[in-house]
Amino acid sequence: MILKKKYDVVVVGELNVDLIANGLSKFPEVGKEIIANQFVTTLGSSSAIFASNLSAFGTKVTFTGKVGNDNYGDFIVAALKARRVDVNNIVRTGKPDTGVTIVLNYDEDRAMVTYQGAMAAFNLGDIPDNVLEQARHLHLSSVFLQESLKKDIVLLFKKAKQLGLTTSLDPQWDPAEKWDIDWEKLLGYVDIFMPNQAELNAITNTTTIPAAIDVLKDFSNILVVKNGREGAILWTDNNLIHQPAFFNNSVVDSIGAGDSFNAGFIHAFLQGRTLKECMEFGALMGAINTTSSGGTMAFENMSKVKEIAKSSFDYTF
Ligand SMILES: Nc1ncnc2c1ncn2[C@@H]1O[C@H](COP(=O)(O)OP(=O)(O)OP(=O)(O)O)[C@@H](O)[C@H]1O
Ligand SMILES: [Mg+2]
Repeated sequence: MILKKKYDVVVVGELNVDLIANGLSKFPEVGKEIIANQFVTTLGSSSAIFASNLSAFGTKVTFTGKVGNDNYGDFIVAALKARRVDVNNIVRTGKPDTGVTIVLNYDEDRAMVTYQGAMAAFNLGDIPDNVLEQARHLHLSSVFLQESLKKDIVLLFKKAKQLGLTTSLDPQWDPAEKWDIDWEKLLGYVDIFMPNQAELNAITNTTTIPAAIDVLKDFSNILVVKNGREGAILWTDNNLIHQPAFFNNSVVDSIGAGDSFNAGFIHAFLQGRTLKECMEFGALMGAINTTSSGGTMAFENMSKVKEIAKSSFDYTF
């Protein structure tokens, strides 16, 4: 008998707003001032993009994370609610205040500054025991932006496995470039490990995917490596699946493509699809992400997603 759980997925992750300046005439210089033609305040963070898009596909998502008792905190909670993500497990704190990423977009490139704020204070004790029990799957993203949680990450994944959840992890980049986690212990409790190639190579101290697989093969379960326009590779039990990227000849930007890929993959995985189907659905969502600006704009609801899949990629589902 399959027990009905309140949520399909509990997302554990960082939360921040993105303050994005567009249309700069040149890159800013120290001691000088320039004008931006457009300014957007939007829901940031890899984990929030993942949660919002997964929820838009119809998967039931609850979010655990920490924001301040301030306007940016209100903004984030409202934006997640608008995508029907459950926000009852988000902790509000008086101090520190909500995390912020300042994004300066110039040409095809961008510079970013992140103030971690509350996300760095979020810890294992902030995740209520019953949240894991209420979900079928645990997904964690951006572990290196969550310093307090990082030291207990093995414990968290172990607990989830003991409670019968399936699990996935997208490490994202380590700004300190130390990559200091006991990977051998952790990956035993991670069903689907989802780094991009640069992250995988940094973690394993290698330069190619085959060399990285060789390092992880004795303790990794399903490894999914994302690689932009090159697509993605899945490795498990000596089997490889290569998933080409869907071709988009008019990319708006690729902010959040990796998170949208993850959302597509996990959505299909929880529907019991084959790993090959999960890869294809992930790649489709990664490509759809690149048809609009930011990570959530193309994913308002499933009917809009289906429309873009048909019109931009001639794909029907
Ligand atoms: N320009 C693109 N055109 C089509 N598909 C893309 C493009 N960029 C990304 N994708 C799809 O999205 C997937 C994930 O993207 P990417 O490899 O950039 O992840 P990432 O580095 O984790 O990104 P993020 O910056 O969001 O963390 C790719 O494997 C690919 O299938
Ligand atoms: Mg990524």
